[in-house]
Amino acid sequence: MGKKAHPDIRTATFVASSPDIRSCPVHRLPEYAFIGRSNVGKSSLINMLTATKGLAKISQTPGKTRLINHFLVNDEWYLVDLPGYGYARISQSERKKWRTMIDSYLLRRENLVCTFILVDSRHEPQKIDLEFMGWMSENQLPFVIVFTKTDKLSKSKLDTALWEYTEEMMEHWEELPPHFLTSSQTSLGREDILKYIESNNRLYAEYLDAKGS
Ligand code: GTP
Ligand code: MG
Repeated sequence: MGKKAHPDIRTATFVASSPDIRSCPVHRLPEYAFIGRSNVGKSSLINMLTATKGLAKISQTPGKTRLINHFLVNDEWYLVDLPGYGYARISQSERKKWRTMIDSYLLRRENLVCTFILVDSRHEPQKIDLEFMGWMSENQLPFVIVFTKTDKLSKSKLDTALWEYTEEMMEHWEELPPHFLTSSQTSLGREDILKYIESNNRLYAEYLDAKGS
């Protein structure tokens, strides 16, 4: 592929689907992972951000993404589409396999700068998401929250949903991590997320310089 898209996204190409961290592309470039419940809109968001239709596979059927998918943007950074969690129709053993794959990726991927945890803006805070955020915090892994599918809510419903989410988060944390409101339909949140990634890319470059590598 590698087709031209938005001015700030010159190229976006699929690199690899990996069953485990050992098979992932050589890590040199800063990387951003997208995770969340199955069907929350991870693959759609990647397509929206890169303005490249069909880059990440989308489906009405939950559980579409099963592998660690790397996409290279502008030959400078990676976006990573991870398989969703909380998908009911998988066996216990598959669930365990998923956990091992995701845990080792998140804990050991050295160039992983930040993980975007996607939550559906229409749903009240889900235990599985809060538990996952708790696990990220315990392991000191940086993350931000992305509220997806905001186009499906009226402005007032969205405000209420955000308020409720903040309330719930405040029971566990002192402050809300950075968060973004998005829609893959209207491209809401695109500029903000791309800016966030750009500024993290610069920090990562400084970090590598300081490390002398
Ligand atoms: P898995 O790979 O199964 O974990 O799903 P996913 O999180 O990658 O979700 P995906 O992007 O495949 O989207 C699931 C469904 O939600 C699809 O039917 C999308 O068209 C729809 N969808 C995703 N994002 C949005 C959005 O912002 N607005 C609306 N209206 N629909 C969306
Ligand atoms: Mg997907």
